Amino acid sequence: TYVVIENCIKCKYMDCVEVCPVDCFYAGENMLVIHPDECIDCGVCEPECPAEAIVPDSDERAAEWLEINRTYAAQWPNITRKGEPPPDADEWNGKPGKKALFSP
Ligand code: SF4
Ligand code: F3S
Repeated sequence: TYVVIENCIKCKYMDCVEVCPVDCFYAGENMLVIHPDECIDCGVCEPECPAEAIVPDSDERAAEWLEINRTYAAQWPNITRKGEPPPDADEWNGKPGKKALFSP
């Protein structure tokens, strides 16, 4: 599976949802997650994210996010169309320590 990691927080560009062939993105207040059991590992979303916030589960950065993706994909609503990203998304892109701002 592919996994959404920390840098999605407060960026939430949503380019990813438009390309996913199986519509397996789920939207929280300030980030998205991927349902690990629905993702078919196609990799199409990875280069679409302007925040480079999508990685394969083989990436070491995925480890602490995989279970978060699994947990919240089961709770948050499915999202298949790109909405309006936060107005300050670009300012948050690449900022360290965003995990503390995760909002379930
Ligand atoms: Fe969807 Fe493919 Fe990305 Fe998985 S890797 S979330 S199936 S676009
Ligand atoms: Fe997040 Fe990137 Fe999608 S910032 S919403 S994973 S395009």
